[in-house]
Amino acid sequence: MTLWSGRFEGGPSEELLQYTVSLPFDRRLATEDLLGSRAHVRGLHRGGLLSDAELDVVLRALDRVESELAGGTFSFAPGDEDVHTAVERRVTELAGPAGAKLHTGRSRNDQVATDLRLWCKSAIDAIAGDVLSLQEVLHQEATAAGEAYLPGYTHLQRAQPVLLAHHLLAHGWALGRDLDRLVDCRRRLDVSPLGAGALAGSSLPLDPDGVAADLGFASRFENSLDAVSDRDFVAESLFVLSLLAVHLSRLGEELVLWSSEEFGFLALDDAHSTGSSMLPQKKNPDIAELARGKAGRVIGGLVAVLTTLKGLPLAYNRDLQEDKEPLFDAVDQVRLGLRALAGMIASSTFKLDRMRAAADVPAMAAVDLAELLVAKGMPFREAHGVVGALVRRAIDGNEDLASVVSAELGAEAAALLAPGIAVTRRTTPGGAGPKPVADQLARFEAKLAVDRARVLS
Ligand code: ARG
Repeated sequence: MTLWSGRFEGGPSEELLQYTVSLPFDRRLATEDLLGSRAHVRGLHRGGLLSDAELDVVLRALDRVESELAGGTFSFAPGDEDVHTAVERRVTELAGPAGAKLHTGRSRNDQVATDLRLWCKSAIDAIAGDVLSLQEVLHQEATAAGEAYLPGYTHLQRAQPVLLAHHLLAHGWALGRDLDRLVDCRRRLDVSPLGAGALAGSSLPLDPDGVAADLGFASRFENSLDAVSDRDFVAESLFVLSLLAVHLSRLGEELVLWSSEEFGFLALDDAHSTGSSMLPQKKNPDIAELARGKAGRVIGGLVAVLTTLKGLPLAYNRDLQEDKEPLFDAVDQVRLGLRALAGMIASSTFKLDRMRAAADVPAMAAVDLAELLVAKGMPFREAHGVVGALVRRAIDGNEDLASVVSAELGAEAAALLAPGIAVTRRTTPGGAGPKPVADQLARFEAKLAVDRARVLS
């Protein structure tokens, strides 16, 4: 029997059920559905719509449903279109006439929006914890890297040396912004829609403020139409997850490059890499590749939800059921990715000799030569030209740049090209050399501590 059978003579058809059913995926909202139902019946009780005894019977039925679900003994019925139907059916079976009062003043429209917001809040907390764990791995590796350095690249061409710690923390700061966005998104979605009813509120004495407080929401909805139509929080969560997935993808891309023989900057741990079914010598960075690959489907989920929303009139339309699968999938994939990358990075070995050798090519200090001339009073554009010409002369004449520089600009200039010098000359705040990076590490640690506290509180 359906929830609406009073108005209907027959049905529903098998085709309709198969097409419209959401139980296979919205079962994940069972915990939140029970929380919402408990708060709702307590509100009904406060409004005098449920007696003490009825409240007690319904709450006990909800507890029983919870233990049946947890123990795997809950049996779903063929007509259970979604998790809300299933829970209400079972509560009514268990609690009889009192159970039949559970849905008083409530619609699945405000119910599903409430469940999904509650789910989103815990999902964001969990993701934030995983983001922090990956940041901590990057921080550990950055600390362990000490003053090791490697080439920094622009256009994927060697540009200037940077500390390895600096490079690792660059990814760490991007994740810090993701964390800020998660916290911010959570704050905005922390609004209870329960009490909006189907779309217009109720003639019955409901208590949306009390119910919101009971559920731990920061506030209740302001407008019942908006409350049941609003999926901004799904779209926004998916955007935050998409950008996070993009950051994981970019990090993944570098791990792929670094672990290639061509770069040789990273040796992967056996447990965190894969082999080839045909080529016995291969060791592949599949985690990093999937971090890159899975970003596509997370972004796809964001686009799917925005596209679903764009043409919808107020208030609830069944299209909104399409919000859940992209959100669940994005949360699952991003969480798995964060953890897999953390494991991969923590277990990899940085090949510091290779990095140093790649960074110690004399041309990497070209801008330092120009800056030496600038310090002596030459305009930068002219200095750039002078050094550029020396670089060209060395290349054309197949000469060593250091000898050309020594002959043309003297020993002080040639000393700048010595191995390990250029990186120490990046001294400005936020720069890539040892002095500013030590300061940056301290700032990064301070933000990590603040974020840890924010996420736990
Ligand atoms: N399964 C539905 C969803 O996820 C629940 C709300 C159904 N509401 C309705 N009026 N048919 O959106």
